[in-house]
Amino acid sequence: MEHTGIGALRTKRLKKKCKDSTTYLMTGKMNNSTLNQLLATLSLIIDYQGGEQLYHAWRVAIVAKYVCDEISPAESQWLFYAGLLHDVGITGIESHPARYPELEESHLSYWLRYHPVIGANIVEKIPGLSRVAPWIRDHHEWINGKGFPAHKREQSIHVNSQILRVADDYDLRFRTRAGLTRSDMYEYFRSHVGTEFSPHMWDVLRRLNSKDMGLFFFEVNDESRLPYKLKEIMHDLPAIDGTVSEDVSIDVILRVFGIVIDARHHYTAGHSERVREYSMILSKRLGIKGHELKSIARAAYLHDLGKIATPLSILNKAGPLNKSEWKTMRRHTIYTMELIDAVEALWELGPLAGYSQERYDGTGYPDGLKGSAIPMGARIIAVADAIDAIKTRRSYKRALSWRVVVRELKKSSGSMYDPEIIDHAIDYITEEKLAL
Ligand SMILES: [Fe+2]
Ligand SMILES: [Fe+2]
Ligand SMILES: [Fe+2]
Repeated sequence: MEHTGIGALRTKRLKKKCKDSTTYLMTGKMNNSTLNQLLATLSLIIDYQGGEQLYHAWRVAIVAKYVCDEISPAESQWLFYAGLLHDVGITGIESHPARYPELEESHLSYWLRYHPVIGANIVEKIPGLSRVAPWIRDHHEWINGKGFPAHKREQSIHVNSQILRVADDYDLRFRTRAGLTRSDMYEYFRSHVGTEFSPHMWDVLRRLNSKDMGLFFFEVNDESRLPYKLKEIMHDLPAIDGTVSEDVSIDVILRVFGIVIDARHHYTAGHSERVREYSMILSKRLGIKGHELKSIARAAYLHDLGKIATPLSILNKAGPLNKSEWKTMRRHTIYTMELIDAVEALWELGPLAGYSQERYDGTGYPDGLKGSAIPMGARIIAVADAIDAIKTRRSYKRALSWRVVVRELKKSSGSMYDPEIIDHAIDYITEEKLAL
């Protein structure tokens, strides 16, 4: 089949770019701009809720950096990263904390109350970024001890956590407020000194207020200017020192992507990680190694990325989808490629992840590619995805045995999936799962 669909055009355009991204992917190390793009994209995913982009993390990062520039400019780059990641622990929560401007502990669910700890635990594992984890852990603490989750007080709350508190609270209170004036903001912060914020933080805000605080905050409120503002800041961030940039591995952050993506769908915790594992096993059995193997493994983490924009009512629907629901469902593969496009070092992975819903017989989506026109990595991820989908429990079905997995895979060999890959999958399951 002629390769002409929307995904195909993107693939063509990216071919040249991919050449450049290969160097990064070969080494698995990243430079500053890769780290920035990865974190900016990750926070977009966290903030896409209920069909709406909240841009909460972007705003918190920008404001936190702005406040930190006034206190300790050497730290402000790290405050920016902490701002992008501060709510990463909301994964799996029914609703984003930005939906609760009155964040009073007694009204919060367990998950909402502990999202700072969950987030800190995730960030702690990202090499090079672990230093921001303690600040994230305390980003909801108040100096009067009435914050959460640990009810810390005054000096025991790190000043950088207090900066995150200011930035977070600013966005929760004022982002949707029409007709906001500079004195509204000033008054709000003033009235929370001694409770939420320390007198020291108030001094800083007062200093900023005498400069350009009003103008700055209004700019941040303007959604159309946000991407430019973010880009400008990221462009000017100093290079992270050699040891850190060497340490910060793309794979660790992609694993976090997987956690965030999976947390959106009930019953699929660990799905992306398992699809990665099965993809690796199948690829190796097919004789794939080196750079290609690494790319397939990375793309597997991202294969469901675009689903963050698909409503849960469609993703978890027990019965068959109607026509318009299908249309929405199919769109997620395009979103997957678009989101991957935002990170230059990952361009090469777009077709591998985005075409994992194509069918071998040409009746899949988004482009209806057939047989070998579907990239090998995408064909492998499709089978790996099927194995996990059949094997694990979902909202619409119970977990099934390995015998049933084999039966189902056989049924779809040559229609949905590449028969050669299915043969390897069946061999693997027979040898590793059924022989025990
Ligand atoms: Fe939070
Ligand atoms: Fe937040
Ligand atoms: Fe999947």
